[in-house]
This record gives sequence, structure tokens and C-alpha cells, in this order.
Amino acid sequence: MKYDFDQVINRVNTACEKWDDLQNRFGVSDAIPMWVADMDFKSPPPVMEALRQRVEHGIYGYTYRPDSYSEAIVDWVKRRHHWSIDRKWIAHSPGVLAALSAIIHSFSQHGDKVIIQTPVYHPFSRTIKSLGREVVNNPLQLESGRYTMDFADLEAKIDSTVKILVLCNPHNPVGRVWTQDELTMLGQICIKNNILVVSDEIHCDVVYKGHKHIPFASISEEFADHSITCIAPSKTFNVAGLQTSCIIIPNEKWRDIFNQSINSLNIGSPNTFGIIAGEAAYRYGEEWLEQVIDYLQGNLDFLVRYFRENIPQIKVIQPESTYLVWLDCRELGVATEQIDKFMLNKARVAMNEGYIFGEDGIGFMRMNIACPRSILARSLHQIEEAVTLLCSA
Ligand SMILES: Cc1ncc(COP(=O)(O)O)c(C=O)c1O
Repeated sequence: MKYDFDQVINRVNTACEKWDDLQNRFGVSDAIPMWVADMDFKSPPPVMEALRQRVEHGIYGYTYRPDSYSEAIVDWVKRRHHWSIDRKWIAHSPGVLAALSAIIHSFSQHGDKVIIQTPVYHPFSRTIKSLGREVVNNPLQLESGRYTMDFADLEAKIDSTVKILVLCNPHNPVGRVWTQDELTMLGQICIKNNILVVSDEIHCDVVYKGHKHIPFASISEEFADHSITCIAPSKTFNVAGLQTSCIIIPNEKWRDIFNQSINSLNIGSPNTFGIIAGEAAYRYGEEWLEQVIDYLQGNLDFLVRYFRENIPQIKVIQPESTYLVWLDCRELGVATEQIDKFMLNKARVAMNEGYIFGEDGIGFMRMNIACPRSILARSLHQIEEAVTLLCSA
């Protein structure tokens, strides 16, 4: 491997959420942070080099997005995901969540309903509610360690006030890479009922062997016309702090509405460094990405084996994508509402509490494994020790 992902890089005192916000978020400062979804690895060298050159220039005034940036996105989406997009379909937003707010704001009215598939990335429901829309949960079903969509429940919950479905593709936190059949079924139901599908594909580039990400909109022209796709270099190349995402909207009328919304919020101006990093990443970051995925696969295999051999009470939901692992802790022997406290106070490992992803996340924890293996090993060892103490009590 060309890149040294085993290297432990000290992130303390860089104002990073994951390490520096531990005390504030969890009330402890000595737990191993395995929570917020970024990586403890340096970004690809070509990204660092492009940023370095731009920093050297010394003037960081207002920026626009050059054509070369859009071309890099078009090429990436074609090369990695076999989806041909037109440059003019690309709109922009600082982050995917900012785009989601703009979409909900402009494609639904106060009191309308928005569907999400829980357990799911927790800011979805917060965003929907804060804009005065009603959240409708279409819970995923867990069968034999794998989550699937419940189409019967979805159809039963649709009425004329449902305007939007937020799809998480691939899914955070359960790690599913939705198949062509699943996406087709979902899309047909939404199109039949005039529901806009917002496909959040921010995790689409980190997919494990044996699985293939399918952009929802790539399924057919009709799907493209009824959906808005959100992608970003942020998760893929570890540049989330640069707040730069791409919103792909083939439907011209909808694109105009989205752009008007972004402009009315005055959030259309790009981050100078986000553009530089994004273009360099999409053009020159692929080799690094392949290697980081290999390393993450190694972490995942290590973790799966570790739980199976040493902590079998905790069941791993095998992710097909993302560096976030969904752990079923319901047989741990700890009351479900105490599991997060057990992990934090006894194991000293800071993970995301399952319940924040929805009611169906109670009894689960989400662990971020995008860290050097030594840190992962230490956190697993601490969980094992805490569980051993618990069992002997
Ligand atoms: C599914 C999903 N969507 C959106 C985001 C946040 O995206 P942004 O930082 O671009 O708002 C995350 C971050 O973890 C995520 O997992």
C-alpha cells in the first residue's frame, strides 16, 4: 500500500469536532472518539498539494466555479458510477444538509409530509421538522442481519400531502447499497404518487467489494426527471470541513427553483478551497480512494472477527458501504436506554447512540471505523473489557 493509513495523526487542538468536541458533546474527554463521520486520515496528496499552491497565492477573495470543476464532477460520476450527466444539471450548495433545507423549503409547503426511512442519518428529521413539515417514518426492516425497505408500509403511508421522500443511498447508518430492484420499486411508487425523491448519495464512493452503487437517477430518464441527487467529495476524500457539495438536477424547471432558493438564502457563493480540493480530488484522488477502501475493508474484517470471537453478544450489521458500522447491542445484557452510557462510561468509547437515528435505532450504536487499526483495536479491546466485567458482575 502506497499510503500509510496506520499512521496515527494527532487531531487534538485543530478544532475538529470528533476529538476536540468530546467534552462538549459527551461530557468526557478521555474516551476514544468513534463518532462523527469523518476520517482520521490525511486527504489525498494531490488535494493537499492543490490547496498548498492556492494558499501560497495569498489572496482568498470571492470565487466562482470554473468549468474545469464541473468537468471533473461529470468525469467522476461517469467513470465511477457509469452515469452520464450534463454539466448544466449540476447545481451547488455548501453542504448536502443545506441543499436538503433548500429543497424542502421550495418543494413543499408548511404542514406537508416528508418520508424518511429509519433508522437514518439523524439531521434529516430535525431539518424536516424545523421547516414546519411533518416527518413520516417508513422504517426499514431487519431480517437475518440485513435491512430491507418496507414497500407495503410506504404505500400505506402515502397520501396527497406527502411531497418528498429522502432516500439515503447508500444508507447511513445501516450500510446498505440499495439494489436496482429496490430502487426501481421505490421510484415507481414515488413517481406514481407525485413524490419528489431526494437521493442523498454522499456515501456513494466508499463501497465494499461485491457491491455496486447505483445512482437513483441513472435508472431511467423518468427517474432522473423526478429526483434530485446530492453528492460531495466530503466523505470520499475527507474534506467535509470545506463545505462543498454538488446537487444534480436533470429537471430544468426544478433546477431553476432550487437555484432560486439557494440564491435567496445567499449561500450560492463557493468556498475557494472547497472548489480547489473538490476538483483535485475528483481528478487525481482515485488511486488514494481505492487504497483507503482496501484499508477500511481490512478494518471492517478485523472488527467483524473481533466481535465474533470476543464479544459475540454484539452483532455487527455488515455494511456494504460507508465507514460507519451499525452494532446491534440488544443482547448485551444492559437495558437498552443504558447502552450508550455503558459504552461511554464503562468502555470509554464515544460512538453515536442508536436512538438518535430514530426509534428503531434503540439498542444500537454507530461506530466510525475510519481510523488507524491500532485505534480501532484499542476501542474494541476496551469494549471487550467492559463487557467481561459486566458478565462477571
Ligand atoms: C447521509 C448523510 N448526508 C449528509 C451528511 C452531511 O453532509 P454535509 O456535511 O454536506 O451537510 C452526512 C454526514 O455524515 C451524511 O451521512
